[in-house]
Amino acid sequence: MSTILQAVRGMRDVLPNDTPLWQYIEDIFKSVLITYGYNEIKLPILENTSLFSRAIGSTTDVVEKEMYTFDDCNGVSLTLRPEGTAGCVRAGIEHNLFFSREQRLWCLGPMFRHERPQKGRLRQFYQLNVEVFGQQGPDIDFELIMMTYRFWRLLGISDYVYLELNSIGSFNTRLAYRQALVNFLTPYLDLLDKDSRRRFYCNPMRLLDSKNVAEQHFLKEAPSLFEYLDEESHVHFSQLCKLLDLSGIKYKINTRLVRGLDYYNRTVFEWFYENVDSHCIFCAGGRYDTLVEQLGGRKTPAIGFAIGIERLILLINDVNIGLHSNARLLHLDIYLISVDECLKGSAILLAERIRDALPSLRVITNHGGGSLKKQLSRANKNGARIALILGKKEFLMKHVLIRDLHSGVQEMLEENNLMIRLASIFKL
Ligand code: HAM
Repeated sequence: MSTILQAVRGMRDVLPNDTPLWQYIEDIFKSVLITYGYNEIKLPILENTSLFSRAIGSTTDVVEKEMYTFDDCNGVSLTLRPEGTAGCVRAGIEHNLFFSREQRLWCLGPMFRHERPQKGRLRQFYQLNVEVFGQQGPDIDFELIMMTYRFWRLLGISDYVYLELNSIGSFNTRLAYRQALVNFLTPYLDLLDKDSRRRFYCNPMRLLDSKNVAEQHFLKEAPSLFEYLDEESHVHFSQLCKLLDLSGIKYKINTRLVRGLDYYNRTVFEWFYENVDSHCIFCAGGRYDTLVEQLGGRKTPAIGFAIGIERLILLINDVNIGLHSNARLLHLDIYLISVDECLKGSAILLAERIRDALPSLRVITNHGGGSLKKQLSRANKNGARIALILGKKEFLMKHVLIRDLHSGVQEMLEENNLMIRLASIFKL
């Protein structure tokens, strides 16, 4: 096949068979977010490149290697957003959303990272981002974790997922730790691979994520960031853990958890799922109390998380196939057939009257003519429950024929009684 007819590598179409599950998941997210008092914010997919290098950190993998960056016709450097937090902070500062008030926001949409595509790793992927501004205490960290747990329960996956958290303290904590880590790593410098050596000089904490088995071996002995935590971060973290203990949510403190984006401080967390061949982080987040100020706003504490929708769906496919049948929301109720060409307009108008009277029903009118047999076959292909058949003779007598497409049973009805009969068939 010629490449022009293929989607860009790492970018996937979500086909009509799959969109009902996506919609079902999104509806659960939205209904939960409403009950927690969160408001939607819609953000551009393109931002000025400097936003991401300033917010995410110029030595992170995302900024160094993964951004889709190009100059527009005016020579302005733009980037397809690799994540949602930076844009949300930019919008909040630009529109003065953080001035003496809290904000609880969410945003859903595509993100772009030029990573090597594989299962669960795409170049265009969707995230639900949830961000809270103006709250300092550990209670909001707790509320966000509870919210994610509610999502998992409603999606039927809570028994299969694990929570890990850590505190990475303040900027000063990390400065002290960085030095300790550099001291520890210096004797191993010759053993580091090219990528790790580069990280050693520009962002040594990123080495803790090393996938190199030999490096992982000696990194086990590396000092723990947790030992360098400042007093306030310690108190914040232990209060969060106490709240989590009360909630019954199981979690593990992973003192190696540092996250790959530079804006975090204090609480960081990840939800993951594990099976024989993969360890898949599908939701991650943490506090970023200095980012608003760093990007030119007022000092505003903040915390958020993002869920990767494709990874969540991989997990659902593995553990809760039943959700697919719940999500088959798009079944068709009624297929309207007119046997005579001259009744086409009347069929469309009858469909309109059904939609007015019974708005929850899904109704399709046959277009493009065809014999009764052909139209019935289209009704079946569309998965309709019943066909309404308008014949010329019946139409003159103001009658409609209802055919149950499962049993094949037919009944003739006066049009005046149609809505009541449909309501009873569909139990409305
Ligand atoms: P992140 O860990 O980079 O954090 O991404 C969050 C989630 O997005 C991941 O856990 C994963 O599910 C999904 N994800 C990331 N990259 C890919 C990919 N290439 N293919 C498929 N899914 C992917 C952030 O983006 C932060 N902005 C989260 C946050 C919000 N922190 C505070 N507020």
